[in-house]
Amino acid sequence: MPNTAATILVFDSGLGGLTVFREIAAARPDARFVYVADDAGFPYGNMPEEALITRILHVIGKAIDQHAPDLVVVACNTASTLALTELRARFKVPFVGTVPAIKPACAQSATKRIAVLGTQATVGREYTRALIREFAAGCDVALVGSPRLASFAEAELAGEPVADAAIAAEIAGCFVEASGRRTDMVVLACTHYPLLLERFRAVAPWPVAWLDPAPAIARRVADLMRNVPAAAAPPSPRIVFTSGRAPSPTLVRALAKYGF
Ligand code: DGL
Repeated sequence: MPNTAATILVFDSGLGGLTVFREIAAARPDARFVYVADDAGFPYGNMPEEALITRILHVIGKAIDQHAPDLVVVACNTASTLALTELRARFKVPFVGTVPAIKPACAQSATKRIAVLGTQATVGREYTRALIREFAAGCDVALVGSPRLASFAEAELAGEPVADAAIAAEIAGCFVEASGRRTDMVVLACTHYPLLLERFRAVAPWPVAWLDPAPAIARRVADLMRNVPAAAAPPSPRIVFTSGRAPSPTLVRALAKYGF
């Protein structure tokens, strides 16, 4: 029985990637996980592209040197839609990215009216526009960029709840009714947003399906790792904050729910 655990590096600007991590950890419970939160650069959604790409290559490159992962999951749409191509060109390790799930949303929508809710950067990227051109034929897509929701999710995890009205204002643009057809599906195109899912449901003007891509990402990771053998005794997951901060007691309790 091998005793060296497969190592998976999960990366995000902050704690949104936990929503992807929990699915991958369920799919490969034997793996050794290192979660890198680039909180010193948070939020990525507001950073100019050139600076962001340089930063992502630097932070991920350093983490690859330190932890020698078998696979890297970029659990951040804002980073994936900008830097996946460069990351794959620069490093040998396989990468799994997180990009807006436009194809399955359009396929599953009955009204053929969907919304993509992400950071302003993600919804503005050519990568996202190309997905719409390729996969959204016959489906109306509202692109809704939120400047604040990722920070709201971080605040909630830190024990500082955000008012309903503030959340409702950020998601309002997703709910479109025109030509007798209403939005019936919202793509969660930022990994922070599933952390707020119950809040979204509570303030939504009408019920919709919320598409979280994390289960599909976990299936992809499990598939790519199928030949990396299971370890007898995997170590506990580890979380690294690029700011070097010590998490508050409230955050420590929140992280414990994810196994950290
Ligand atoms: N979690 C990130 C995403 O999926 C972005 C949050 C941010 O840093 O703005 O896009």
